[in-house]
Amino acid sequence: MSVLNKKTVDDINVKGKRVLVRCDFNVPLKNGVITDENRIVAALPTIKKLIQDGGKVILCSHLGKPKGEPKPELSLAPVAARLSEHLGKEVVFAADASVVGENAKAAVAAMKDGDVVLLENTRYRAEETKNGEALSKELASLCEIYVNDAFGAAHRAHCSTVGVTAFVEEAAVGYLMQKELKFLGGAVENPQRPFVTILGGAKVADKLPVIENLLTKADTVIVGGGMAYTFLAAKGYGVGTSLLDQEKIEYCKEMMAKAEANGVKLLLPIDCTVGKVFPDPIDGPVEVTVVDADKIPNDSMGLDIGTKTAEMFAEAVKSAKTVVWNGPMGVFENPTLAKGTIAVAKSLAETDATTIIGGGDSAAAVNTLGFGPKMSHISTGGGASLEFLEGKELPGIAAVNDK
Ligand code: 3PG
Ligand code: MG
Repeated sequence: MSVLNKKTVDDINVKGKRVLVRCDFNVPLKNGVITDENRIVAALPTIKKLIQDGGKVILCSHLGKPKGEPKPELSLAPVAARLSEHLGKEVVFAADASVVGENAKAAVAAMKDGDVVLLENTRYRAEETKNGEALSKELASLCEIYVNDAFGAAHRAHCSTVGVTAFVEEAAVGYLMQKELKFLGGAVENPQRPFVTILGGAKVADKLPVIENLLTKADTVIVGGGMAYTFLAAKGYGVGTSLLDQEKIEYCKEMMAKAEANGVKLLLPIDCTVGKVFPDPIDGPVEVTVVDADKIPNDSMGLDIGTKTAEMFAEAVKSAKTVVWNGPMGVFENPTLAKGTIAVAKSLAETDATTIIGGGDSAAAVNTLGFGPKMSHISTGGGASLEFLEGKELPGIAAVNDK
C-alpha cells in the first residue's frame, strides 16, 4: 500500500478528545538554548490544526540519547517554552522523570479543549527504545487518538512511535509527516522525470543501499563527496590518501554494472579538489589544487569535487524535473572546500524542478549556505530520510492506519 494513503489529521474528528501527538523535538541544544528550531517550527501546523479543532493536545518526543534515565540537560522543558512562544499560548510542561507520572496525569485531567501539554523526554524511560508494552500502554492511557508527526523518528520502532498505536482507538499522521511522504514518497513512487538524485557525504557504506535502490528508480544517480573515492578506486584510479572503503570496492563495481544494465546514468567526479592534509581546524586554511579524477597524486586526498565536475552535475540538474539530494560534495564546513556543495545547491536553487533535500548534513549545508527557502522540501529526518530512500518500510509510518 502506498505511503501516500495514510489517514491524516484531516480525516479524524478530535473535538473534545485527547490526542497524543508524537513530534520530533530532537533539536540541538547548547547550554539549554535551542540552536536550530526547524523541527519545532515544522511541527506547528499540526499542533495549530488540532488546537483549532478543539482537541486536547498532548505532545511527546524524545531528545538526544539519555539511555533510559532522566538527564536534566536533555529535558524537553526548553522546547515547551519555545513552543509556547510560537503558539502564543501556554504549553503546560509535565516534568515527570517517568514521562507518564503524576504531573502528566494531573495536567491531562485538567485540560480543556484546545489546551496543550508536553510530556517529558520519552527516552527517560528505558522501555521507550525497546518498544516495551508498559510504556506504550501508559502513553495510550492518556489519549483516545494518536497522531504521529515525527518523521525524523519514523525509522525507530519505539513505544511512542509504534507500540502505542496498538492501544489507541485511531492513529493518523500529522501534516509534517504527510508533507515528508508527499515529497519523498512521491519522488520514490512516482517521480516526474527526468529524476536526478545526488548523493554525497563521507561514508560510502551508509549510502550504498540508497544507491542500490535509486538505481531502480532514478534516471541519473550522481555521486560526490567522500564516498566518490571508493567508486573512483573501483574504476581502477589511484585515489592517493582520500577516504577509501577498501571492502566496498567490489560493491561499487556491482553498482556501476547495475547502472549500466538498468540504463541509469551514474555520474562520478571527473576532477577533484585535492590537498595534502585535512584542514585542522576544519574551517582553517588549506592549500588545494584541482586535478583530473584519474590523476590524484599519491600524497594527496580529495576534499571536494573539482570545477568541471561541479559544472557537469549542475548541467544534469538543469534537465531534471525531480531532484533528490543527500550529502555534501566536499568538506563544506571549510570555505575553500565548500565550492562543490555550493555549486550543487545553486543549481537546485535555480531549477524549476521539484527539489528535495534529505535531512541531516545536507539540510544543514543548504540552510547554512542560505539556499533553504529555494528548495521545494527540506526533510526533517536524517536517518529516516535515508532509510526511506533505501526503500525500507519505516515502522512509524507502517503503524498508522490507512485511509
Ligand atoms: C534524529 O535526529 O535522527 C531523530 O530525531 C532520531 O533520533 P535518533 O537517531 O537518536 O533515534
Ligand atoms: Mg539520527
